[in-house]
Amino acid sequence: MLVNMRDLLADAQSGNYAVGSFSVANMEMVLGVLQAAEELNAPVILQIAEVRLKQSPLEIIGPLMVAAAENAKTPVAVHFDHGKTAEKITQALDLGFTSVMFDGSHLPLAENIRQTKAIAAFAEQYDAAVEAEIGCVGGSEDGSEDIAVNCTKPQDAVCFAEETGIDALAIAIGNAHGNYKSVPKLRFDILEECEKSVDIPLVLHGGTGISPEDFVKCAKTGIKKINIATATFDAVEKSVRNCYNGNRINGYYDLQEAEVSGAYENAKRHILIFGSDNKTEVF
Ligand code: 13P
Repeated sequence: MLVNMRDLLADAQSGNYAVGSFSVANMEMVLGVLQAAEELNAPVILQIAEVRLKQSPLEIIGPLMVAAAENAKTPVAVHFDHGKTAEKITQALDLGFTSVMFDGSHLPLAENIRQTKAIAAFAEQYDAAVEAEIGCVGGSEDGSEDIAVNCTKPQDAVCFAEETGIDALAIAIGNAHGNYKSVPKLRFDILEECEKSVDIPLVLHGGTGISPEDFVKCAKTGIKKINIATATFDAVEKSVRNCYNGNRINGYYDLQEAEVSGAYENAKRHILIFGSDNKTEVF
């Protein structure tokens, strides 16, 4: 069932758990994530980032994601991740995505607020949820840039959330996209401050490589959406490689099954850590 991300995150806030937001690049990843969600009775979010559209064009993968969500037995929001241009954000909304992120984290605060507000006003016409980012999550979604982490200032987060009227706020607490070069040390002091002073659900980007203990701590401290991208891609690749190494691929459809299975195992593992299993009754 296709749902608004706002409703998923509201239930996560009252139930004190986090919803997994899984990046997908093809049909096999979509199928694997939804198989895990249905098996565990878990709400999930399917997402794709603007930088990934070179490989998976939005006009092709977008309708696939929306159709998969509509046909799923569990509640699924379809989210446009790290939107950079009004053109692609509009296209995602026209395709029926139920939430969009505008990433103005590289802009000065006042300009980030101004542009985020404009996107939020536009997305309101579609009743879509809007996520934005303040501070800078490290790395970049496709590994093409090595952006330094710039931790969110809690007082900026309060003013940003109030002025923009967005539905979810991505904060930077030492998290980074891609595989971490060393064990991440998340700034729980900043997260606690943000949780205390910001009313809307908080989002953790750069989920790949964060320990189960830290995920649980985040989910209990205001983080209601956790983005997982690299771990999905790595799990799919590893599953395919293992199947080849074990001589279990004899033709294309074995390859396809190995891809679905990699995405399924990865989503299942994360859903169980985030505590979002068996959380579909209210939908
Ligand atoms: P990872 O690639 O580190 O899982 O980050 C995902 C993400 O935050 C997408 O926006």
